[in-house]
Amino acid sequence: MTNEPDIALEEIFSEKQIETRIQELVNEIVSRFHGQELTVAGLLKGSFVFLADMIRHFHRRDLRVLVDFMTVSSYGTETESSGKITLTRDLTMDIAGKHVLLVDDILDTGRTMELTVRHLSGYKPASIATCVLLDKPSRRAVPFKADFTGFEIPDQFVVGYGLDYAHRYREFPNICKIVFTNRTHEKKMVSGND
Ligand code: IMP
Ligand code: MG
Repeated sequence: MTNEPDIALEEIFSEKQIETRIQELVNEIVSRFHGQELTVAGLLKGSFVFLADMIRHFHRRDLRVLVDFMTVSSYGTETESSGKITLTRDLTMDIAGKHVLLVDDILDTGRTMELTVRHLSGYKPASIATCVLLDKPSRRAVPFKADFTGFEIPDQFVVGYGLDYAHRYREFPNICKIVFTNRTHEKKMVSGND
């Protein structure tokens, strides 16, 4: 499954499991925002597959959406991110008075979502809700809880369905954990937080 030596991938969620869970999440989100227009703000790059599937379910459930993206980067050393986070691409739409759903692939330390919510609050939206496909609660460095969470997972590095390891594996339709068979590879793990 991988061309990289010293790395093995083990499926933790199949395509079918992801699809089923997303429909449940969409049900929750639609019942919260029914009859309103929702501005879906995706964090690049990791959220793009999840967001693309979700918005088409929103359409099937008659929830109207606007879509925008932003990029937040962190610069890390070896296996830990530095905790310094910068917004490198802001939304292009005006969200004042809008109901915003901020979407990311995974909640890890929580720094990205915490900073982004604070940043977006400055634009005076009507409301901000947060949605992540995956959550690693044991890794949290700042307190943060998403309003809508797909799956909680233990402290393990995962790829697929938009998530990458050193830019690879985003195209996988399922989610796999990386098993490092040579520990030097782990140093590449936190090379950014996209
Ligand atoms: P946080 O700011 O530490 O919560 O980092 C969240 C970001 O780190 C996500 O947007 C991901 O891009 C990245 N990330 C954290 N854990 C993983 C993982 O297991 N696989 C791939 N990316 C991850
Ligand atoms: Mg990433």
